[in-house]
Amino acid sequence: MDVIDETAQVLASLRGVWDEVEVDELDHALQAGRRAADDDADDELVLASVLHDVGHSPVVLTDPSVHHEDAAQEWLTARFGARVGWLAGAHVEAKQYLAATDEDYARALSPTSVSSLAYQGGALATSSRTGHVWWPDALRLRRYDDAAKVPGAQALSIDEALDVARRVARR
Ligand SMILES: [Fe+2]
Repeated sequence: MDVIDETAQVLASLRGVWDEVEVDELDHALQAGRRAADDDADDELVLASVLHDVGHSPVVLTDPSVHHEDAAQEWLTARFGARVGWLAGAHVEAKQYLAATDEDYARALSPTSVSSLAYQGGALATSSRTGHVWWPDALRLRRYDDAAKVPGAQALSIDEALDVARRVARR
């Protein structure tokens, strides 16, 4: 199967998967992509924003002992390169970092994010990824992620998301 067909299949598999309370994982993905595009993110960052939670897809996460962000990083790196994978793989550490360093951020986290933060290790001001050249973009992604939980909010269409995937895959 080609990478774009696989991506379409994975996106479709997120319909009806509920991690957050307000929107399912497909709406969450497409809203995150829209937030990134509206913030003039480059194609790789937009794509990583759309696909950061593919580790919640039953197609991608086949081993429940693997953390969803690690499953996403592995799946995306193989298909779209190291940066897309790394940015998605960083989205939990980016939450831990922002929760430790930005009071307003910590206060605004959704109840689901607050409870997952606890078992993800809590707020942490440093990690193996802070200081990396891609870290600022990981923090941008995390803010698109947290904003992408609003029923009925503006979102990319699946076709728009796949167009971004096509451009990244062509590189
Ligand atoms: Fe997310």
